[in-house]
Amino acid sequence: MRLLVTGGAGFIGSNFVRWMLQDHADVELVNFDALTYAGNLENLAGLEDDPRYTFVKGDVTDRACVEAVFARHAIETVVHFAAESHVDRSLHFGSLVFVQTNVVGTQTLLEAARAHAVKRFVQVSTDEVYGSLGSQGRFTETSPIQPNNPYAASKAGADFLVRAAHQSYGLDAVITRCSNNFGPYQFPEKLIPLMVANALEDKPLPVYGDGMHVRDWIYVLDHCRAIDVVVRKGTAGELYNIGGTHDVPNLDVVRGILRILDKPESLIRFVKDRPGHDRRYAMDAGKIRAELGWQPAGSFEDALEATVRWYVENREWWERIRTGAYREYYQKLYGNR
Ligand code: NAD
Ligand code: TYD
Repeated sequence: MRLLVTGGAGFIGSNFVRWMLQDHADVELVNFDALTYAGNLENLAGLEDDPRYTFVKGDVTDRACVEAVFARHAIETVVHFAAESHVDRSLHFGSLVFVQTNVVGTQTLLEAARAHAVKRFVQVSTDEVYGSLGSQGRFTETSPIQPNNPYAASKAGADFLVRAAHQSYGLDAVITRCSNNFGPYQFPEKLIPLMVANALEDKPLPVYGDGMHVRDWIYVLDHCRAIDVVVRKGTAGELYNIGGTHDVPNLDVVRGILRILDKPESLIRFVKDRPGHDRRYAMDAGKIRAELGWQPAGSFEDALEATVRWYVENREWWERIRTGAYREYYQKLYGNR
């Protein structure tokens, strides 16, 4: 199978690239990534000499570049991760790039995929397109699309374009919507790596609002395995929700991290809430479990412990990020909060 993975230098994409090359001897893979602030080739260290792996630096909104990669590599299947992915950036640092990358980039890829008659296009999407839940219930594949921030809205727009490509032109397209991931190589602007890094440096842990916002956490490799199953066994035109079914308030997650690191809860700081902050996400992953036989491999507790350990052992990875341009971002977002 010749795969085009977009955004393979990011958090989930790099875990997926490693997983696919390790687990499938028949996979050849092209990683197409623009290397934005979130893209880091260090995440893929060791793969440079693998004859089944090719890296192409390119932007999904650049038609000529996208066209060239399809033409040159005889792509059979696309797994589309490339995106602007951070809600806070979409709220405070300009949302146009979210529309450009997430919406225009997806349509650019869809057009190239059609022109080159690819066999399957997998759109990696998010539970955030469904908006916020009340205190009860879980999102199913038929829940209404009600995004509440520019990131979520841009992902919803992309999902609609993928659906339209299937309905209008018969492109074999499948959409996955996953809950919050955590694991190695996650950029330290997202909740779990940010809190681990701050705790390790004895810095305050900024919890938005009352800390009772609920997210449904999934270990990144469980997500990667779910996408792998969808690539191979999913039905064209279908949607699959993916989730760890571990929905807990942010405060519980932060306290769990502090416990693992043996750091005091006095490091927690409640700060001004995020605007339009979705109160609760929880996924019903019953469809992918029943139809494709996927399920998470281990417990949240074990995965969190392994993840925290990874950040302890790979301190130089996140320290390099936190001493670069990220410092300016952090000061701007948290400085007056
Ligand atoms: P990330 O921000 O860590 O990585 C994004 C990658 O895309 C980076 O390597 C970046 O360089 C690349 N990229 C950005 N703009 C690009 C462009 N214009 N052209 C080419 N490459 C570009 O993101 P992530 O957390 O790994 O998320 C990957 C995908 O999974 C996204 O589509 C996201 O919406 C989706 N998703 C994420 C989560 C989560 O919890 N992180 C949950 C569900 C779905
Ligand atoms: P995040 O990792 O940004 O993912 P998402 O917004 O996609 O769910 O945030 C996860 C949750 O943690 C979300 O409810 C916002 C909250 N949060 C904080 O309380 N403090 C922080 O510094 C960050 C980054 C997030």
